[in-house]
Amino acid sequence: MNLLQEIDRRRTFGIISHPDAGKTTLTEKLLLFGGAIQEAGAVKSNKIKKGATSDFMEIERQRGISVATSVLAFIYKDKKINILDTPGHKDFAEDTFRTLTAVDSVIVVIDVAKGVEEQTEKLVEVCRMRNIPMIVFINKLDREGKDAFDLLDEVEQKLGLTVVPLSFPIGMGYDFKGIYNIWGKKLNLFSGDTKQTVSEGIEFTDLEDPELDEIIGNKAASTLREELELISEVYPSFDKEAYLKGELQPVFFGSALNNFGVKELLDCFIDIAPSPQPKMSDTRLVDSREKQFSGFVFKIHANMDPKHRDRLAFVKIVSGVFKRNTNYLHVKLGKKMKFSSPNAFFAEKKEIVEESFPGDIVGLHDTGNFKIGDTLTEGEIMEFKGIPSFSPEHFRYVNNSDPMKAKQLAKGLDQLMDEGVAQLFTLDLNNRKVIGTVGALQFEVIQYRLEHEYGAICSYENVNVHKACWVAPEDQHNDQFKEFKRVKQRYLARDKKGRLVFLADSAFTVQMTQEKYPTVKLHFVSEFK
Ligand code: G4P
Repeated sequence: MNLLQEIDRRRTFGIISHPDAGKTTLTEKLLLFGGAIQEAGAVKSNKIKKGATSDFMEIERQRGISVATSVLAFIYKDKKINILDTPGHKDFAEDTFRTLTAVDSVIVVIDVAKGVEEQTEKLVEVCRMRNIPMIVFINKLDREGKDAFDLLDEVEQKLGLTVVPLSFPIGMGYDFKGIYNIWGKKLNLFSGDTKQTVSEGIEFTDLEDPELDEIIGNKAASTLREELELISEVYPSFDKEAYLKGELQPVFFGSALNNFGVKELLDCFIDIAPSPQPKMSDTRLVDSREKQFSGFVFKIHANMDPKHRDRLAFVKIVSGVFKRNTNYLHVKLGKKMKFSSPNAFFAEKKEIVEESFPGDIVGLHDTGNFKIGDTLTEGEIMEFKGIPSFSPEHFRYVNNSDPMKAKQLAKGLDQLMDEGVAQLFTLDLNNRKVIGTVGALQFEVIQYRLEHEYGAICSYENVNVHKACWVAPEDQHNDQFKEFKRVKQRYLARDKKGRLVFLADSAFTVQMTQEKYPTVKLHFVSEFK
């Protein structure tokens, strides 16, 4: 197979949902189709169980699982499918945002009874901002839920999507009879058996066919005909180009638990979902079909064994072929590096590979050279864009509790921040360090890991910060800017890359500052050019 064929057969995507909507169950069923696992229950949920905040064994256990499920790959109908795992827990939302920079498309799972939930809204917004192609899967049709049309409205309104139903349910919950697969023009009947063998469905090119009445009953058949007619009147027809541009989103219905409607989703997915997409760097757009290798780090995972402090850096291959034992340029460090044991991921296993192609993820063992966002090339000086940091939600001063261990603390903090566990800000005025996180859970994770992996003990102290605002441009000759820096001196800090950040204590302060110094632009995301 040549490079172009390898690229063409790859589909790299993420599944996003609010916790409990059925992401893990769906992932597992997809893997079953690929023959990558033999039985249900093989994929462990990486959910942080409720009340686990102080249960560090649980956190460690989760880290173990999340390394195993970071990338799940399988082959289906000759397509190489890479699923990138995204943590559902909101405290790890930043991790998910970063992973979304490495996917070429997304499947959004929604619980038919709960409808659109908070976490789904946030994640879909990020995908929308980047025009990532999305397919919606409405799950748990075996349960009573919302009316299908109401739900489609809700998806349009709350998520701002333009939906096109490509399958439609016949009844729901107790009355659930199956789905009509609009995409494949087939009827799939639901047996309600969790071990349901997946059938190919019964082809129905003409819905007026009286056989439909015989199979599902007169009433259900006429309701289905009416509903499908309504769909063709109300919703746009499917347009692949528009889907690929992120302008419309196909919707499927099913029940992941019962493995129902999943094959229809997967068959459509491999047909329409994009192969590896071009990616913008600071100098140019890099096409996946270019011969020269390039890739970027989107995730770093610390080793589970604290005695060996090596880490696994996850690199998404953007272009060319990545080869084992070949010299590549780590652009930020200006350093050539080669990797003797790059890991590829297959189902839940990882194994050493000789070659990987665009769309694939390789895990590189790292002793501290990589940071999230780093670019690797064959020599070209360029860096991929699009891994921004968002303003954290929670902030605390971090203090060293053991003066003998200052070095360990600094090193530990440095490495944990590289992994993207949290963000560190250093105040201009007194060099005090402030940690910012997305969720409260991370403070405990950091404290625990500093102690167990670095032998450092830290304590926290409250600091009144509402948002981190990145300041641009840093124009020293602008009077307003000088005035801003003088007045806000106490609240100015540097992020890890040395960029100027205003730590505003309230939403009101942000607003007042913007009004008072209109030429000083404040951003809530670190990458704003
Ligand atoms: P998540 O990864 O999105 O958090 O969700 P997960 O797949 O873990 O599913 C959450 C719960 O919903 C699980 O039940 C799972 O069995 C159930 N579920 C998933 N898909 C369906 C479906 O199509 N129909 C029905 N009725 N339930 C579904 P649980 O009781 O929390 O966990 P478990 O004990 O079954 O593992």
